[in-house]
Amino acid sequence: MDFFNYRNGELYCEEVPVREIASREGTPLYIYSRRTLLHHHERLREAFPEPDFLVCYSIKANSNLAVIQTLQDAGCGFDVVSVGELKKARMVGADPEKIIFSGVGKTEEEIRHAIRSGILMINIESDEELIAVDHVARAEGKRAGVAVRLNPDVDPSTHEYITTGKEENKFGIPIPEAREVLRKCARLPGIQLLGLHVHIGSQITTVDPYVKAVERTIALAKELEEEDLPIRYINMGGGFGIDYRRGEALSAADIGEAVRPLASGGRWKLLIEPGRFIVGNAGILVVQALYRKQMGKKRFLVTDGGMNDLIRPSLYGSYHRIWPVVTDEPEGEGSFPAADIVGPICESGDFLAKDRKIPPVEAGAYLAVFSAGAYSFAMASNYNSRPRPPEVMVDGKDWKVVRKRETFEDLIRGESTWESGSA
Ligand code: LLP
Repeated sequence: MDFFNYRNGELYCEEVPVREIASREGTPLYIYSRRTLLHHHERLREAFPEPDFLVCYSIKANSNLAVIQTLQDAGCGFDVVSVGELKKARMVGADPEKIIFSGVGKTEEEIRHAIRSGILMINIESDEELIAVDHVARAEGKRAGVAVRLNPDVDPSTHEYITTGKEENKFGIPIPEAREVLRKCARLPGIQLLGLHVHIGSQITTVDPYVKAVERTIALAKELEEEDLPIRYINMGGGFGIDYRRGEALSAADIGEAVRPLASGGRWKLLIEPGRFIVGNAGILVVQALYRKQMGKKRFLVTDGGMNDLIRPSLYGSYHRIWPVVTDEPEGEGSFPAADIVGPICESGDFLAKDRKIPPVEAGAYLAVFSAGAYSFAMASNYNSRPRPPEVMVDGKDWKVVRKRETFEDLIRGESTWESGSA
């Protein structure tokens, strides 16, 4: 469920007509629905209630400060993968005890920053990283809370680029080797072993892979207990999928029902790290139609938004619903012949949709690209020296620009020309 709806042939975000925001702020433009964010967070909290569970929003999906602030106010924890994300979470007042730090290549500087911030734990991805964290913690005169990330070799049946828990992926430590790393944790004075972590991939649409991964993790936690290595946290990762075709999310209740019994008894606190589930359907990208073009049988609709604004279709072949912001046709199969909806970037791979049927649109019409709240602005770039779009947040009747459109000055900040003798 989301709060983007058509009323009398016009798309609204909550109580605000999308056309109104687009005509004021220009396009391309991201619009987020605060209510949708909170709705999804709430569904997860119901499925995974505190204190036995903790939701840690994975900031990488959408790191706008207003998004992080909204979730912070709702009591959410955070999963960060860089000092930048950690600082953003801290800026909005996040409790360090609710922050976990993931990532396969943390630098010494990042590890030091995480330890100084007093976060709950660092997820360890390799034996060498464990040693690095131990060194930094000892130099700081502290013990770093850690979880060891397992590679449980579970196939999540998703796009290969976003599969992370199979043997051939770079993430985590296979369970047999992990046993050694876990035992080593107990011997290192700078390390306090707190948890086990798995994250098997993203955009997962069935619960079975989670059940398998959590079962394997809990079996290991029980084994460790017998060796006198108690585990307090089981982090089952994120990856809960959304339905890009209908704008629905995988049911939080279904995941909760399948997983809760495995972790029952409050023996472990279970953490989840969802990103897309919370923000995916809470955002749209609004673009404007520029030109229609026909070459032989092939039709194109050229818009002012391209792969630098939203790279998911080009990178993963992802499907995003696209529909005019103002139209008499109810959403479905459009009456206009199929066309590729493309951007202005100088790459053949620059498209938002292929062979898509939408209603007839004239130049100047606004189009909404749905389910663009996660990994959308977050992956936007300045390719072709294009400023990144603004981000707007809507709450009921109110809306506000929560990130300004970049300017030419933003684009060249830090750059300089080369003049002879200036080096
Ligand atoms: N935890 C870890 C350790 C992760 O690596 C990720 C995502 C998450 C949690 C959150 O996953 P989510 O719940 O959002 O699926 N750019 C791709 C997705 C990359 C996901 C990276 N890791 C896309 O646009 O589909």
